[in-house]
Amino acid sequence: MPPLKPCVIWLTGYSGAGKSTIASALEQKLLKRGLTPKILDGDIVRSNISRDLTFNKQDRAENMRRVGDLAYQDLQTGHIVLCAFISPFRHNRHLLREKFNAEDFIEVFVDTPLAVCEQRDVKGLYKKARAGIIKDFTGIDSPYEKPLHPDVHLRNDTLCSADKSAEQIISYLLNRTFHQSSH
Ligand code: ADX
Repeated sequence: MPPLKPCVIWLTGYSGAGKSTIASALEQKLLKRGLTPKILDGDIVRSNISRDLTFNKQDRAENMRRVGDLAYQDLQTGHIVLCAFISPFRHNRHLLREKFNAEDFIEVFVDTPLAVCEQRDVKGLYKKARAGIIKDFTGIDSPYEKPLHPDVHLRNDTLCSADKSAEQIISYLLNRTFHQSSH
């Protein structure tokens, strides 16, 4: 099997888009290849290192800054880092990308439409946001700025399987390794 280089795979998309599920599926596939992936996930990070932060624009930027630093450390120690964060603001994603060498940062747009995420509403948060119980909820009263040129675009209208999405990301990594090594 061709080698996969350490890199940061950044999954962005609405809450409930499937980012964490895809990250887990990808983690399993990488483990099977004998790699040691690390996962950084919004729901987990926000219950520990970012538990002091809200969801206003400034705090979301700070959340990304912290996670970017953690991802950077994991990358330096040779891991593939899987990051699942809504990360709704284009400017913040751009700042994040600038922390890394171009080939080390892969932006993956988990493009599940808002209507699909809201209909599933796995955590019941969309309902609370619509009722005004939760403020600044992405897609309801806080914007999501879609990536214009993601490295990988996962179109999940019908929530295709996380496994397939993980395969799509691995194919991207393998092809780009091929392009690099052919130079
Ligand atoms: S981010 O915008 O700062 O990147 P992050 O990915 O860390 O967000 O956290 C998102 C998770 O926090 C969601 O999946 C959801 O479970 C929870 N959450 C709680 N309040 C909000 C909110 N106002 N907007 C978005 N997500 C929220």
